[in-house]
Amino acid sequence: MKNLLVIGGSKGIGNALLKSAVNEYNCTNISRSNPDWTHTNLNSYSLDITSDSLPELGNVDSIVYCPGSITLKPINSLTDQNFIDDFNINVLGAVRVIKKYLKQLKRGESPSVVLFSTVAVNQGMPFHSSIAVAKAGVEALTKSLAAELAPTIRINCIAPSITDTSLSAGILRSDKQRDSLSQKHPLKKILTPEEIAATALFLLSDKSSGITGQVIGVDAGLSTLKI
Ligand SMILES: NC(=O)c1ccc[n+]([C@@H]2O[C@H](COP(=O)([O-])OP(=O)(O)OC[C@H]3O[C@@H](n4cnc5c(N)ncnc54)[C@H](OP(=O)(O)O)[C@@H]3O)[C@@H](O)[C@H]2O)c1
Repeated sequence: MKNLLVIGGSKGIGNALLKSAVNEYNCTNISRSNPDWTHTNLNSYSLDITSDSLPELGNVDSIVYCPGSITLKPINSLTDQNFIDDFNINVLGAVRVIKKYLKQLKRGESPSVVLFSTVAVNQGMPFHSSIAVAKAGVEALTKSLAAELAPTIRINCIAPSITDTSLSAGILRSDKQRDSLSQKHPLKKILTPEEIAATALFLLSDKSSGITGQVIGVDAGLSTLKI
């Protein structure tokens, strides 16, 4: 069984990914709280990726880095600290994890890394300056590292639109808001964490062995279609 490390598998997309991966991979999760379920193939570490030391691990074949933020404010309300915090959790967290387990990835079985951006990098959206800047960094990191670590390690990035998780709970706070956001998408839906996790699982698998350095939009058509 291959060894999959998920950062941020206690909730949201990472949790949906772990649930669908746990029969196929030996899974390790790192998040501040543990998932609210257990499995013989799941080992969990509780720590804060921005401040705590990462654990020593044996084999790591693939990594999915999920922690992120949604800091939506007009530019005059965004502080320097907002930009620093968004960069820290979205970019530096991923950098720290990749550096820590690079040795294991390099000797791993068809190693693959999956990072997360947002649709708001490709399509400008009001109040997204800080998070869009940080996620643009994630996209640049994806491409730079994909080039640097080819042909050994594949690195790709998923850019979701609004997805029904704890991160977006404030935005999806009412049926009215949910309906209005759903109507803005060509597929007229709010994405589920399982829909995003399915793409992550594909990018981890050998079915995607020809794909690296890509930013894959899973956004119900928002970034590319006007209907
Ligand atoms: N949901 C959306 O609408 C949406 C849209 C576009 C892009 N994205 C991106 O997709 C990715 C996954 O989002 P999501 O909606 O699944 O987020 P989520 O529901 O907030 O889940 C994030 C996961 O990361 C963990 N985490 C957060 N901060 C951490 C820290 N400092 N140290 C360790 N673990 C930490 C959380 O667990 P603990 O709280 O237990 O630590 C949780 O397991 C993010 O990068 C996000 O930016 C999401």
